[in-house]
Amino acid sequence: MRTNYCGELRAEHIDKTVTLYGWVDRRRDHGGVIFIDLRDRTGTVQIVSDPQRTPESYGDAESLRSEYVVKAVGKVSKRPPESLNTKLPTGEVEIYAESIEVLNGVNKQLPFQVATVDTETVREDLRLQYRYLDLRKPRMAQNLKLRHQVVKAIRRFLEDECDFMEVETPILTRSTPEGARDYLVPSRVNPGQWYALPQSPQLFKQLLMVAGCDRYYQIARCFRDEDLRADRQPEFTQLDMEMSFMSVDEIIELNEALICHIFKTVKNVELPRPFPRLTYAEAMSKYGSDRPDTRFGLELVDVSEIVKDMGFKVFSGAVASGGKVKVLPIPNGNDAISNVRIKPKGDIFNEAVAAGAKGIAFIRVRDNNEIDTIGAIKDNLSEAQKQDLLDKTGAKPGHLLLFGAGDTETVNKSLDRLRQVIGRELGLIDENKTNLLWITEFPMFEWNADEKRYEALHHPFTAPYPEDADNLETARAHAYDLVYNGVEIGGGSLRIYQKAIQQRVFETIGMSTEEADNKFGFLLEAFEYGTPPHGGIAYGLDRLVMLLAGEESIRDTIAFPKTQQASCLLTNAPAAVDAKQLKELEVASTYKPKKSE
Ligand code: AMO
Repeated sequence: MRTNYCGELRAEHIDKTVTLYGWVDRRRDHGGVIFIDLRDRTGTVQIVSDPQRTPESYGDAESLRSEYVVKAVGKVSKRPPESLNTKLPTGEVEIYAESIEVLNGVNKQLPFQVATVDTETVREDLRLQYRYLDLRKPRMAQNLKLRHQVVKAIRRFLEDECDFMEVETPILTRSTPEGARDYLVPSRVNPGQWYALPQSPQLFKQLLMVAGCDRYYQIARCFRDEDLRADRQPEFTQLDMEMSFMSVDEIIELNEALICHIFKTVKNVELPRPFPRLTYAEAMSKYGSDRPDTRFGLELVDVSEIVKDMGFKVFSGAVASGGKVKVLPIPNGNDAISNVRIKPKGDIFNEAVAAGAKGIAFIRVRDNNEIDTIGAIKDNLSEAQKQDLLDKTGAKPGHLLLFGAGDTETVNKSLDRLRQVIGRELGLIDENKTNLLWITEFPMFEWNADEKRYEALHHPFTAPYPEDADNLETARAHAYDLVYNGVEIGGGSLRIYQKAIQQRVFETIGMSTEEADNKFGFLLEAFEYGTPPHGGIAYGLDRLVMLLAGEESIRDTIAFPKTQQASCLLTNAPAAVDAKQLKELEVASTYKPKKSE
């Protein structure tokens, strides 16, 4: 029987005989005395075998190699002063092994070293292919543990303090529109028909409110076939919640208490409450983004009115066609950012272009508020306009003003990107800060220029502000997102619970009554049987854990994640299937492999 985990042994265990199980992290031979770092999921401890003191284990100790699985029995002793290791939690003690038993060896060359001390970076594809070895590394083991602690804190808070009940919702279901493509599963018993994997449990959680569940939550797996990034996976986990008879303020308050509980439990950090709130309009205006990183300033300033008539076509044209001219003012930017970097092919220029801009204009504010710039701005800016610009942007000598001009979306997107890149470069972001921010009052819809129709900004079940409901196209939604250091970690809303409004929303996004009945008839019908007012939210659990762990990718918080190409390198999924299986499903592939494949 195991008596202890390796990582928990301390001075208080001295003289205790312990039985440990674990993996050989490292084996060192110091002039005949063998030292073994034995590792399990809690950490490592030093085992010693010595031909004089422990001859009975010496032969076995000599045979050990990295990653052998071992049972070790021995007495905990205090380490001699010269070998105390203050960096290691178990560094005060060592165990003289009375016996060492190899339970299993390693028969192949390890694809990479697992050892705790090893800091060499291993290629991610190799880590994913041998994920079971990668997960033995302390960093990954800690991330898994942290994820578990977060889920545990969530369950304790929601169940024990707020009376939430976990309910599982189906995985084989109908399409739930969250804006991505569906993963489809053919039905064998209903040939020609398909299930969709849920993009979220949205409709089921609303139906649970109709069912009188009152407070639902679920640690729910969601599936979205979309372009992948560091913070997106094709299957990911949400903390999904829904509650009846609560206002937006009550929902937000409960959620702040939940987030504070998580931070307190796993990080011992007390977050100040209430969290700040910004409306969508304010966030877009100040930061050009609906998920701004507000750990630093560099706020955008709209200067359209000042520059629209100055005779510079790029500016006047942008404003005349309904767009904007905005400035990103950078204190001391003159020293930090050279002209070469802003001009075509420069890195700052390229960042703006990557976000859709055609280019960027700039002004440098010199001593005595002289301004220095190139081309058309210099020739056309009047003294009064110059003064207005300086006043509005708060610019002082040393400031660099970067201008974005064009349609509002592109201006915001490009200046947001520059703001982040420059904020990082100038060291303005305090990595130790935790900044949680609600964004509220989103518009209900955004215009999809390609498809020439309105699209729900969140999803079409979000309720409009009642006072805006007469004109849905421009209505504000009762929606709220939670942003953590510039990453959207959660989003939710009050829901529509009246059939007539739901039908009008479907109409606004160009869905015919027939299509709405076909896709969502079950929901519309449910609304006729006594639906309570309700609302909810869902958090990206992987993202939350990523930020809490200080990781840069959600792949490092998921035990078995997929690559950017949505494949699993460990199992080689997705993979071809037998012709027989396809035949049974009445499915045929139209895919023709390219010659090179
Ligand atoms: P939404 O689509 O905003 O809302 O998703 C909620 C949160 O889930 C996370 N998320 C993702 N995480 C990893 N990989 C992905 N591909 C991915 N997509 C989303 C984000 C996001 O904030 N049903 C609504 C919620 C509601 O209205 O209650 C929904 O799913 O952190």
